[in-house]
Amino acid sequence: MAESKTNFGTKVGAILAAAGSAVGLGNVWRFPTETGENGGAAFVLIYILFMLVLGVPVMITELAIGRYGQKSVGHSFRTMSGGSKWWGLMGTFPFVAGIMILSYYAVVAGWTLEYTAEAGMGGLSQMTTQSFNEFSSDPLRPVICLFIILAMTCCIVALGVQKGIERGAKLMMPVLFICLVALAICSIILLPGAEKGVSFLLNPDFSKINGGTILSAMGQAFFSLSVGICCLCTYGCYFNKNDNLMKDSLFVAGIDTLVAITAGLIIFPAVYSLQGVEPDAGPSLVFITLPQVFTQVFAGVPWLGYAFSLLFYLLLTMAALTSSISMLEMAVAYLHENHGVNRKLACGLISLLCLFLGAACSLSFGAWADVKILNIDLTLFNLFDFIVAKLMMPIGALLMCLFVGWRVKKNVLEGELTNGGKLRQPLFKAYYIIVKYLAPIAIVVIFLTEIGLIK
Ligand code: PHE
Repeated sequence: MAESKTNFGTKVGAILAAAGSAVGLGNVWRFPTETGENGGAAFVLIYILFMLVLGVPVMITELAIGRYGQKSVGHSFRTMSGGSKWWGLMGTFPFVAGIMILSYYAVVAGWTLEYTAEAGMGGLSQMTTQSFNEFSSDPLRPVICLFIILAMTCCIVALGVQKGIERGAKLMMPVLFICLVALAICSIILLPGAEKGVSFLLNPDFSKINGGTILSAMGQAFFSLSVGICCLCTYGCYFNKNDNLMKDSLFVAGIDTLVAITAGLIIFPAVYSLQGVEPDAGPSLVFITLPQVFTQVFAGVPWLGYAFSLLFYLLLTMAALTSSISMLEMAVAYLHENHGVNRKLACGLISLLCLFLGAACSLSFGAWADVKILNIDLTLFNLFDFIVAKLMMPIGALLMCLFVGWRVKKNVLEGELTNGGKLRQPLFKAYYIIVKYLAPIAIVVIFLTEIGLIK
């Protein structure tokens, strides 16, 4: 059976590991993509609102459920519900969701790896829209990058929670943040026409809002915080009993939002100062604009441009890795804790499966662009993203809110969040009302609106 479970060694380590999962391509790649496709600032406002009223409460809920049981996600749901087999089935959720999300996320992480290599070889300034399209639609190169990313993820997760995950996060997160802020300042000050980009990001135009925008904003809030698919339940199992889960969640969400907005402040000034790039360019947006930012910002001092861009892509790849690690960990922990599969074997098997699924997603940017499943008008890559961010995350979040709001006894939940009465939690009441009433109603209404049942 399972080897003994390790906890995160230090308080900072646990928070950073959760932040490491949260901060990733979701902030630097998916946030600008979604913001661009959904009209800018009004989307950002709704996204921030959802972060606060849905994302953070769900995050607290996930960590509380995971830490309560201290073993596996299924075990936590079972014991917290007082022994319900049905709720125990939630344990399979992170397994399925972890595999789905890692499969397409690792493709984009692979792209960042390619760009790191380009930056290292000094070829970044030649990376145009056309070269990105050629690269991403190539049948082989992106798949090799995908393989390398999955292999690295697999090795780190195989090393185990404390050695692999915590150490990595502690080192990389702060440096990435400093780089992002520096780049945003340069982008705003140095790029011609930057104010148009800043205004796109910060000046809301509410006529751009519709049901689809709202579902996208909710999906992005969940995606960015890594909530809704029991990823943080899995990490919650590794938190110590004296960590303050409510405070930690607020802290992580704060960092996550800051990183996303900072990334937006880098990308959108660049979009508006470049010829021929539109904000709604989709998943390629960041990969087309960023190289141009580096080229233009550092036009006078090429060696600095070289060093900075290499460091930036390296860190972005690392941030993607700390997130992909948490995805693989979700699925591995399930196999290990529930079926007694050796951790290293589980890592290998799941990574292999993700390699196949990821290769299919990668091909959907080229040779398989026209392959559609069930006649749904999305490429395989976009279908995976849709299923994860717009179906699984809201449904998982809904189930978890219903679980702690209606199934778990209030004093059990309060006991977990106050560490058995040791902590004062002045926000507990507000949190409880949100997870019991507001969040479930909001999620259901947004869903029904999107599928057209409510107009
Ligand atoms: N939050 C991560 C990011 O922003 C993605 C992620 C989602 C990680 C769900 C784990 C689980 O990149």
